[in-house]
Amino acid sequence: QKGGYKHFMLKEIFEQPKVIRDCLAGRIDHASGAVRLPEIEALPVPGRLVIVACGTSSYAGLWGKQIIEKLARVPVDVCIASEFRYADPILAPGDQVLVVSQSGETADTLAGLRLARERGVPVIGLCNVVGSSVDREADFVLHTQAGPEISVASTKAMCSQMVMLLLLALRYADAKGLLSREDRAACIEGVQAMPKLLDDHLPFMRDTAQRLARTYSEATSFLYLGRGPAWPLALEGALKLKEISYIHAEGYPAGEMKHGPIALIDPKFPTFAIALADELFGKVKSNLIEVQARGGRIIALTNPGLDLEVDHPWVLPQVFWPLAGFTALPALQLFAYEIADYLGKDVDQPRNLAKSVTVE
Ligand code: F6R
Repeated sequence: QKGGYKHFMLKEIFEQPKVIRDCLAGRIDHASGAVRLPEIEALPVPGRLVIVACGTSSYAGLWGKQIIEKLARVPVDVCIASEFRYADPILAPGDQVLVVSQSGETADTLAGLRLARERGVPVIGLCNVVGSSVDREADFVLHTQAGPEISVASTKAMCSQMVMLLLLALRYADAKGLLSREDRAACIEGVQAMPKLLDDHLPFMRDTAQRLARTYSEATSFLYLGRGPAWPLALEGALKLKEISYIHAEGYPAGEMKHGPIALIDPKFPTFAIALADELFGKVKSNLIEVQARGGRIIALTNPGLDLEVDHPWVLPQVFWPLAGFTALPALQLFAYEIADYLGKDVDQPRNLAKSVTVE
């Protein structure tokens, strides 16, 4: 069942190329290059999109916010479902709610869905499990094509959610006439090429993760830093590490570090940074120099040719900017996986966690 992999989590990380292929199947019109999302064709571009989700699905939502706002200029709010349901949220005409859930059964997310429906706002479900409550109760449904996810820690589901959120961004941008032919082609060609790129690189990423895991396995705390679309990935990297290795980790927007967390930095408190080739690289770099000035060790996901001197640069292939998350995500997952496995933790069944949180 594990297909020769030691754990389901590892198998599912390595399935991500296939997941991207499956999510894209039938979604691109070959003649026009336009994105096809017939499930929501009846809906106009929202005035505001409110994303409601928990855990990793909410981080996918935060990543989607950055991409949708940048490409399509549609305002997006991301609400943690357990807060949304009790917050008496303000939902205005023109708003749409997007509920993101792998299982489609998360209690708080479902409560958010029901609340939004009661308020008369169109609700789109983005879920993986066909026949789940989200699938049945949402007004419109987009399915992620991740296949069954067995490991408690979510990996390929987030990847599939990101593909669908990217397609949503492209659809909105197209509908608003905001996307140049060149940018759309670069995005579509880039995401279509991603499965092969990941198939080629995942084994190397795993080797790097294994080496780094041994070097950093004694750390008791980690700071994950990123900016822009890399910030939600920093949150996800920290969540993966804490849930399966039980090492404390915090994800932070890199620029916010000086407002508190920098006090923690010392040689025993390493930083895992996402410093990819985008318009914020220079800013991230200067944040990392501040970490180094306090003796902090750094692992940094980065791209070829960038001028960055850290203890452990981890060079990922460079891709068109909205797609960088698809290369960073498996690196973060593999690092957490390798540390947890090295420490002998129960990777697929971490303590205190359930795959589907069906109670409040
Ligand atoms: C983390 C993880 C959880 C889930 C969260 C939401 O690895 O698995 O944080 O992402 O419980 O679950 P779904 O997406 O099923 O609503």
